[in-house]
Amino acid sequence: MQGDVTDACAQVEFLAIRHANEPLWSNRYRRQHRVGSLRRMRSVLALAFVVGSFGIVRVHASSSGPPAGFTGAPVGAGHDAESTCAQCHNTYPLDPDDNGKVELLGVPERYVAGQRYRLTFRVSHAEATRWGFQLTAIVKSTNTGAGDFAPKAGDTSTQCVAAGERTYIEHGPAGRGATGIGHLKSYEWEFDWIAPPAEAGEVVFYGLGNAANGDGSEAGDRIYGPAGKALARSVPQG
Ligand code: HEC
Repeated sequence: MQGDVTDACAQVEFLAIRHANEPLWSNRYRRQHRVGSLRRMRSVLALAFVVGSFGIVRVHASSSGPPAGFTGAPVGAGHDAESTCAQCHNTYPLDPDDNGKVELLGVPERYVAGQRYRLTFRVSHAEATRWGFQLTAIVKSTNTGAGDFAPKAGDTSTQCVAAGERTYIEHGPAGRGATGIGHLKSYEWEFDWIAPPAEAGEVVFYGLGNAANGDGSEAGDRIYGPAGKALARSVPQG
């Protein structure tokens, strides 16, 4: 599995798309492809298991990775606005003061279709001692996911999650570097973004960071980021 880590997002997305397509297949098609559909059923069950177990972990333990879809991305093109981490981490309002901030580094002004870019997500705060983030990339015109994300090879400090037509990169589930326990002043994660086909057009990035107090609860943490506003944009080259 280790070697496959860099393909994690694409795999999740691929399975999710198959699952979503399932009801579209006609009964006749199903009868004619009974073996295939059994096989499909098995992969859908496997997916349900994976999604299910992730769900359990996420609802009860968000330090191991927030639920997908909490970047504050805005409403548009038939998509609701996303909520923010501050829905649960609600001791303070979103973006409570000027003592903290998030930055997304490495987004090219102009992307080359299919190219991999190494990005850095940085959260800063004078007093925080634990850290988290979630980021998504969206095609501006359709408001659907743009390209793909991937953790660095063998790196567990970030992970991918998918929801609907969007993929997200966020802090890892556990272990070395995931939430930067004990790091002072700022913390950052590196991962890759794989650009979509040029026809996708302008891509906008939305994300939030948690400058947490490290008490293992959702209380007392500060969520930073311009909810509803892009952290970065990129347009196709040429
Ligand atoms: C559905 C509720 C919920 C949402 C939404 C949520 N969290 Fe959490 N989060 C929790 C809970 C509950 C905990 C405490 C349990 C744990 O550590 O897993 C927690 C803990 C954390 C911690 C550790 C905090 C500490 O002080 O030790 C980090 C970091 C974190 N979340 C990041 C995030 C980020 C980043 C987002 C938004 C992208 C987010 N969470 C969204 C419920 C949530």
